[in-house]
Amino acid sequence: METGESPRRITLDDLRRLKAAGRKFAMLTAYDFPTAAAAQAAGVHSLLIGDSMGTVLLGHPDTRSTPLGLMVILGEAVRRGAPHVYLVGDMPCEALRTGTDFAVHAAKRFCTRAGCDAVKVEVGSEQAPVVAAIARAGVQVIAHLGLRPQSVVSADGFKAQARDSQSICHLVADARRMVDAGAVMLLLEAVPGEASRAVVDAVSVPVIGCGAGPACDGHVVVTQDMLGWRTMKPPRFVPVLAEIGTTIEAAMRRYVRDIETGVYPAPQHVYPMRKEAAERPY
Ligand code: KIV
Repeated sequence: METGESPRRITLDDLRRLKAAGRKFAMLTAYDFPTAAAAQAAGVHSLLIGDSMGTVLLGHPDTRSTPLGLMVILGEAVRRGAPHVYLVGDMPCEALRTGTDFAVHAAKRFCTRAGCDAVKVEVGSEQAPVVAAIARAGVQVIAHLGLRPQSVVSADGFKAQARDSQSICHLVADARRMVDAGAVMLLLEAVPGEASRAVVDAVSVPVIGCGAGPACDGHVVVTQDMLGWRTMKPPRFVPVLAEIGTTIEAAMRRYVRDIETGVYPAPQHVYPMRKEAAERPY
């Protein structure tokens, strides 16, 4: 598998091979067709239909009310835009609220409707049975540990996790528990490099970091944060590699000004009449 252009879909085995070879993989969030197409063209290995859609696209204060149905519909668009990436559906609160059977049903929906290769679930220590049930149903499942935004109820709850040796031990125990339950990968959010190092050393599955330091096998951030296209300040771990919010706003200001001043529409924006009709317009 080469980055850049992939002639076929990237699989879990490909990501495992990258890990075995000591090579890293790149994951981004995507909630729409053009973003997905750009990511695939850029060589991104994996896309996450993140429940961050609730905050980024819908403007909610947190991810707890991101609607499952909308995630699946937009997930279909992501898959159309990026047929070759390893696509992951993020199980929103709604999918987990009413018990394991519904969670399994939601996981299958991400795969059959949106063409996902896996689902991701934010899990606490006691939720290994959900991971096990999804895995038993034949769906690849990624266990999200560390900071779990779905469990954060106020803005000051977005804090780095596992910052002392005791909590690193708990994190490692949870990581092992989830892998034993059938998780094919782990995702660690907002933990120190020492914590992710300990997890990577303790499990054999690929570990994706979201603000979790260099030991991880792959890394993910919210695309809009990375592109500088959000109203909120991004977390410290996000590499802000563009300022497209500023570019978009400048273009929109120009559009307003051009309409107000009559610069737009110019002749090249106007349809001409058919030649013969132009002589007798009406
Ligand atoms: O919803 C999301 O975007 C996530 C991250 C890991 C970035 O869960």
